[in-house]
Order: sequence, then structure tokens, then C-alpha cells
Amino acid sequence: MKKIMILLSVFILSISIIGCEDKENTDDKEKQNQQKQEENNTSKDEEQNKDDESDEKENTKSYLEKTITTNASGENVVTNPNDILVIANKERNLPSDYEPSDLVAPDIPFVFKDSPVRFMREVAASNIEKLFAAGNDAGFKFYGRSGYRSYDIQKSLFDRYVDAKGEEAANKSSARAGQSEHQTGLTMDVTSQIVDLQLTESYGDTPDGMWLAENAHKFGFIIRYPKGKESVTGYSYEPWHIRYVGIDTAKKIYDLNITLEEYFRDHY
Ligand code: DAL
Ligand code: ZN
Repeated sequence: MKKIMILLSVFILSISIIGCEDKENTDDKEKQNQQKQEENNTSKDEEQNKDDESDEKENTKSYLEKTITTNASGENVVTNPNDILVIANKERNLPSDYEPSDLVAPDIPFVFKDSPVRFMREVAASNIEKLFAAGNDAGFKFYGRSGYRSYDIQKSLFDRYVDAKGEEAANKSSARAGQSEHQTGLTMDVTSQIVDLQLTESYGDTPDGMWLAENAHKFGFIIRYPKGKESVTGYSYEPWHIRYVGIDTAKKIYDLNITLEEYFRDHY
């Protein structure tokens, strides 16, 4: 009987010990799970933080930084060629195959009738018609000389300049293919009889050129390459080259007497 009692006690003790071990095992597992869960939560938090940081970086990027990508040759290519505010310059190329889908011939006098480069994007075309009409009312007759130019046309134009004047001079007055605003369809070279329908710096000192410079912004255009800003724009003064940016932006640029580059750098 005593033996039986002893055996029974051992058995009960064993069960309770085993039971404790089981409970300890369960507790351990629970702890491990909890730890894993916490680790998981921490790494999720870290990922979320990283996402937030990159969102924040993206948000604090300037408009110019946000609208550029790098192609296989390491050139900066704009991602917003259709934007009215697109900026093409020596640092920012348009995609070589970019051609606006809404090109129309504005109803204005042209130096060369039926010129293949008389087209503009619709919004620019309708506003240049208004600008020329206002010029007419003020006693000026303006002519369009060159509007949209494809990448290929710009390439042959630039190459011709290089042949005629050398690369350094060409770079000051003509854009390389992909870097010309003429490819945006938002630009027109404007002239008058007073300078024999030529594109010349002296146009800026004529009553016609002065009227253009003082009134273009009312119709959404800016003088894109102003005098004294050659180091900012990269091009010589072009009193004939007007660029559509929309009335609000044109007015700001006119009032501040700045370039499109400075507008994006300091005022956008
Ligand atoms: N003359 C301007 C810079 C152009 O070629 O686009
Ligand atoms: Zn031009």
C-alpha cells in the first residue's frame, strides 16, 4: 500500500512537473511570438517611416527636379513636354520624338507664306492672334516668322549655324536639337517691316519691338531671352522670340523683370 502511495505521488508529481514544463513551453512560445510580432511591427514602422521620408523628399523637390529624368546617354529629359510651363534649355532636353498633338496655324501674317514652321499649339495660337490684333489697334503690323520646329528641323538649323559661324557662336544664338523651345509649339519669332522682317537685336529698340515687349504678357507671352540675362538663359538677347506661358505667369515674369529660369528658381 505504501508502495502504491509512493508510486501515485511520483506519478502525480511527474504529471504536475510535465504540466509545468508544458505551461513554460507555452509561455516561452507566447513570449517568442510576442517578440516576433514586436519585431515585425518595428520593421513595419521603419518601412512606413522610410516611405514617409521619401514622400517628404518628393514633396520638397522643386518643380524643375520633379519634371526631369535621365536618359541612357545621361542627358536630362523633361517628363512634362505638354505642360504650358515646360522649360527646355541647355540643361533640359525635350524628348526627341516629342511633337505637340494640337498644332494649328495661327491666323496672323507670316513672313513666308505657307511656311512649314508657322504652327503653334492651339492655346498659343489663339493668344498670338489676340496679341497681333491688339498690336494692329495700336498701329503695328507684326509678322510671324518661325513657330513650331521639329527636332529634325532644329538639328539641321543648328548644324547650318555651326557650319556658318562655328560652334561657340552657334551655341549663343541657336539651340541644339531637343533644347529648343520651338519644339514645344509655344513659341513664335515675331518681326516687322521696320527691320525688313529680319530677326535682329535692334528690333528691341524699335517702336514695334518695344510695344511687343511691353504688351506680350497681357496675352500670356514673355520675351524669353531678355537683354542682360545671357548668363541665365544661355542665349543672346532675342527681342523677337516670344514664348507662351499663360497670362498669370507672364504677368509675374514681366512685373519682376526676370527670366523663366529665375521664375522657377526663386518664385515658383
Ligand atoms: N534661338 C533659340 C535659342 C532657339 O534656337 O530655340
Ligand atoms: Zn525663336
